[in-house]
Amino acid sequence: MAILDIKKAGAKVLKDKTQPVEKIDRKIKKLLDDMADTMYHADGVGLAAPQVGISLKVVVIDVGEGIIELINPQFVDKQGTEVATEGCLSVPNVFGEVERASHVIVEALNRNGKTFKIEGKGMLARALQHEIDHLDGILFIEKAITISKG
Ligand code: CO
Repeated sequence: MAILDIKKAGAKVLKDKTQPVEKIDRKIKKLLDDMADTMYHADGVGLAAPQVGISLKVVVIDVGEGIIELINPQFVDKQGTEVATEGCLSVPNVFGEVERASHVIVEALNRNGKTFKIEGKGMLARALQHEIDHLDGILFIEKAITISKG
């Protein structure tokens, strides 16, 4: 378990498209553990591997309902739209209104290599979309309708 350094906007790794995880080995499980520690330490609700300098499709999320670990996540459904405020640990002290789907279904692998589906509404739907955008090299500030600093 370790607290990792969080890359800030401007770092190349945040712009790169990530690679899928080929094999869930000890290194990937340690990455999941360290990402969770880092997210909780920074008081975040989600963290994607590029944010800790690793260009792989790995995400952790906790919107207050417990840890969700996603390996190679993909959307299988998106419904509705909703605008709400977002921030990002890689873009400190910046907030923006972003339009997202209000209801999503994501398929991913868990740390045991099993495929599972997760359905998200509201804040969880938003976190899933924000974090999966990171895996495509997209930051929320590129999608934000309005930006404020605070
Ligand atoms: Co972010």
